[in-house]
Amino acid sequence: MRKNVIAGNWKMNKVAAEAEKFVADTKDKVPSTAKVESVVCAPFLYLQSLVKQSEGTDLKIAAQNMHYEENGAFTGEVSPSMLKDIGVTYVVLGHSERRELFAETDETVNKKAHAAFKHDLTPIVCVGETLEQRESNQTMDVVSEQVKKGLAGLTDNQVKATILAYEPIWAIGTGKTASSEQANEVCTHIRKVVAETFSTDAAEAVRIQYGGSVKPANVDELLAQSDIDGALVGGASLEADSFLQLVEAGAK
Ligand code: 13P
Repeated sequence: MRKNVIAGNWKMNKVAAEAEKFVADTKDKVPSTAKVESVVCAPFLYLQSLVKQSEGTDLKIAAQNMHYEENGAFTGEVSPSMLKDIGVTYVVLGHSERRELFAETDETVNKKAHAAFKHDLTPIVCVGETLEQRESNQTMDVVSEQVKKGLAGLTDNQVKATILAYEPIWAIGTGKTASSEQANEVCTHIRKVVAETFSTDAAEAVRIQYGGSVKPANVDELLAQSDIDGALVGGASLEADSFLQLVEAGAK
């Protein structure tokens, strides 16, 4: 039985007081159960204070990106050791916005995944196709390649601890959700790729989230699918009430 992971990705939203209010409003209300992990992916600036604020609760704090090097001349970057040092436990890697707007590649995602494990951070590795790729029937190939390259060289145990997020780019922020069958079809395929590349044990254990216009109204149907183990949520994770409804759905 895989534990659902509901992660709210705030992206570049909220000022400090709003971030703190959100955590104050949710940290003692997220379900404390073996069925769901509740995660908030916040901008770098707020990570340290949000980690402190949520200490001792079931609300976990994630970074939205990091560099793969420990330190050095990388102006504007944040390293895995810095995240570990302030108590961050998860990190989103290879989000499509980073791939499309900030030149993230499968190779850098892979370096970052290795760096995450070196520092005991759980990576949430994002994959997903563009609308053009979907319409030309390339979805499965694109996603396979992203999974294989992104996870290359990880051990079976590391793969088991990885969270994958399938986020079709055409469904992000568009209000256009993949149907739960469409989403599950790709997640099932991803699990097959993990089985073939690593092992059936790794494929059984790895959690695969769906992301793209997830909201309280459609989350139950998505989570009811055989290969969907949670959600990575943008817009609908910005309000505490909506986030709490999503994590409650994950705990059912
Ligand atoms: P939306 O839920 O706003 O579509 O964003 C999805 C996403 O990109 C989460 O990482």
